[in-house]
Amino acid sequence: MKIDQSFRKEFPWKGQSLRVGFVLPEAKKKISASIAHMSRETIRHRFFGIKNGFTDRELKYLTEVDGYNHFALGIEEAQGEERGVAIARLVRDDLHPEEAEIAILIIDEYQKSGLGTFLMKFCLLAAAERGITTLRFTYLPENTAIVKLIKRLGNPVKNSLNSDYTQMKIKLERENLEMYFNELKDFFA
Ligand SMILES: CC(C)(COP(=O)(O)OP(=O)(O)OC[C@H]1O[C@@H](n2cnc3c(N)ncnc32)[C@H](O)[C@@H]1OP(=O)(O)O)[C@@H](O)C(=O)NCCC(=O)NCCS
Repeated sequence: MKIDQSFRKEFPWKGQSLRVGFVLPEAKKKISASIAHMSRETIRHRFFGIKNGFTDRELKYLTEVDGYNHFALGIEEAQGEERGVAIARLVRDDLHPEEAEIAILIIDEYQKSGLGTFLMKFCLLAAAERGITTLRFTYLPENTAIVKLIKRLGNPVKNSLNSDYTQMKIKLERENLEMYFNELKDFFA
């Protein structure tokens, strides 16, 4: 299995057709447009503040990635408007290269349908391929959704950074990775 720049696959989801794949530089427009489909709360939970759009510099950072130390997987609609609906980004820690920070966002309309968990399983497999053994999540303390999602994926170790942010780490476990691979193996055929 290789989850790299060429990875792109359509799949049915709740009566819709979606596509999962590696985020490439041509995603800039789609990422820019997706902000219109995010509530203030979703934006605050992901970006820790108010955001009305992305600068060219931010879009460059978000899409022009090396695919190894920094990579992102996204989900888009495969029909109709072809909106970007989800993105998860992993950035390797310079000091601890076996560890990466992960950030995820699902646009509001698609939240609570299991898509976050689904996308995260691809991320865990892609992280393992790149020698990453620990994932780190940084989030606002009131963000119960991300905590539930993290707990679905492993046994997290919590670390309150300060009163504004909380951090959790999960170790990638071989058994879970094998389970995710089996669940998703049709995507790698
Ligand atoms: C956090 C987030 C990624 C979860 O994605 P999702 O697709 O909605 O999650 P899933 O449907 O896979 O559900 C995972 C769990 O979270 C729960 N959940 C999802 N949204 C929730 C909400 N708004 N409130 C409470 N629980 C919620 C689900 O019920 C599920 O819990 P369960 O395991 O007990 O059944 C999504 O809500 C999101 O993008 N939020 C805004 C950005 C953000 O918070 N990013 C995280 C910081 S890095």
